[in-house]
Amino acid sequence: MPKIVACLNSKGGVGKTTTCIVLAEYVAAELERKTLVIDVDWQMNATSMMMAAKSWEKYQSEEKTFAHFLNKCMVQQRPGELLHNYVLKDRGNVRVIRTNGTQPAAPISLIPGSLDMDDIEFKIYRKHKADEENQIVDRLAELLKKSIDGLTDFRYVFVDCPPRFDLVTKAIVKIMNFAVMPFSHQILTQYGLERLVSRVSLLRNQKPQDIPYGALPTRIRNVAGATDSIAEVAKKFKVIEAIIPETEDIAKHGEFFYSEHNGRMTWREKWGRSSREYTKAAQIILKNL
Ligand SMILES: Nc1ncnc2c1ncn2[C@@H]1O[C@H](COP(=O)(O)OP(=O)(O)OP(=O)(O)O)[C@@H](O)[C@H]1O
Ligand SMILES: [Mg+2]
Repeated sequence: MPKIVACLNSKGGVGKTTTCIVLAEYVAAELERKTLVIDVDWQMNATSMMMAAKSWEKYQSEEKTFAHFLNKCMVQQRPGELLHNYVLKDRGNVRVIRTNGTQPAAPISLIPGSLDMDDIEFKIYRKHKADEENQIVDRLAELLKKSIDGLTDFRYVFVDCPPRFDLVTKAIVKIMNFAVMPFSHQILTQYGLERLVSRVSLLRNQKPQDIPYGALPTRIRNVAGATDSIAEVAKKFKVIEAIIPETEDIAKHGEFFYSEHNGRMTWREKWGRSSREYTKAAQIILKNL
């Protein structure tokens, strides 16, 4: 059964999508574990980081995005629709290095997102208007758990959530094995973390200390200057012991591209000087799964 890691924070722009892709690529390229990314955000940034826009248009027109899967299951209520049919294999632009010199593509797959995700939520509410919201969330959580458990090929599933507690995010929160919560050390984001942990706690009916989560300091401009405030946050929240700096290496991979010289890059080539801190974060997260 794959382990589900959600990248979560209702604050926008904190680095959820970037963290999601970096961690998924780490597990796939550095550890060679079969890994899947599911893009459940209507902004589709994880999808843009893993495939060219032209390829996405094809899957959108063939109705092969996560939004189409939800539409078929939760709106049209077609029984037996398999999530497996929405998985695109060998995506992204990282490669594995083996000691025998071969350099295969990292075993990373994607279920692409769609701008239609926003609309789907409305359609699901309309279809299930006789139900309470928590009943809809439970039904969705049950569908997603069963569907993801059915993806037995994969060891890890990374879910990139939007900056909002929509229906799908709530369902993911219920079924995830771990939540990574990127945050910056500014005071406002700390309040955001408080709200986030308490919402997750309510949804999962779990005490904050029992929630499997780790807050990850991300996009930190002045690492030395931020350590004290991060230590303050760590008194109250479970903070992962790594600090992700704000770097150009990270920013330039906001869009998918193949390296001009070699095609695919190694994970370390791609994430440059931040790879050391990301490795620390990934290892802590994997230990908690
Ligand atoms: N450590 C970093 N260093 C430099 N740029 C970064 C870093 N992390 C993220 N970025 C950039 O900041 C922007 C926002 O990051 P990202 O999309 O990961 O945030 P997000 O939390 O997923 O946003 P949203 O809430 O809109 O989904 C992107 O352009 C990304 O490339
Ligand atoms: Mg995002």
